[in-house]
Amino acid sequence: MAIAAWPWGAYLGEESKNGGIRAKVSSWRRISPAGLIPHAKASGQYLNSILAKTESQKAGYEEAIMLDERGFVCEGSGENIFVVRDGQIATPPHVASILDGINRKSVIQIARDLGYTVVERDVARAELYLAEEIFLTGTAAELVPVREIDDHPIGEPGEITRHVQAKFVDALYGRAEEYLEWLDFVEVPAGADEPSKVSS
Ligand SMILES: Cc1ncc(COP(=O)(O)O)c(C=O)c1O
Repeated sequence: MAIAAWPWGAYLGEESKNGGIRAKVSSWRRISPAGLIPHAKASGQYLNSILAKTESQKAGYEEAIMLDERGFVCEGSGENIFVVRDGQIATPPHVASILDGINRKSVIQIARDLGYTVVERDVARAELYLAEEIFLTGTAAELVPVREIDDHPIGEPGEITRHVQAKFVDALYGRAEEYLEWLDFVEVPAGADEPSKVSS
C-alpha cells in the first residue's frame, strides 16, 4: 500500500470557508446502496459525483447537493451535509446513501461535545430552504458553510456553524488537545513551502 501526502488548498476555495458557497440540488441522484456501497470512498463511484459537480458548475454554482434514490437529501459531490433547524443539527443517516465521512463523524462528536443536539435523520429537500444554517464537511473541503441553495438565500454563516467550525479547525491543526488522538502528523520535507497539515 502507498499513501501519498501533499499540501492542498481548500477544495471549494479558501474563501468558501469564511463566506460560504452557493449550491444547487442536482438532477443526478446519489448512487443507490442497491447497486454499490455508497459508504465507501471508492474511486469508481466518483463518476456519480463528477456528473453532479459538472452540472452545478456549468450552471454557475460552486457545489451540487445530491438527493438519494428516495428523494431525501444525501450529500454534496465531495462532502457530507449538516442542516440546522430550530437550533438542532440534523445530518442524513446511513440509509440515505451517504459516504461514511470521517469528518462527518468528527463534526458530530465536536458538535455534541459543544452541547448541541445532533440528529441523524432523513432530511427533506424542502428543509434546505427552511434551514437556519447549512454546512458541508469533507477532507478536501474541510467545513464549508452554504449561504445559498437553488438561489434561495440561507444567509451569512451562522453562529452554530461558526462555533463548530472553529473547534473543527483547531482539531484539524492539532490545537485541540481533546482530539489530538485523531491525528497522524506528516513531516514536511525541507524546502516545502506549506506548513505541516495533518490528515486523519
Ligand atoms: C461523495 C463524498 N461524500 C462525502 C465525503 C466526505 O468524506 P470525508 O469526510 O471522509 O472526507 C467525500 C470526501 O471525499 C466524498 O467524496
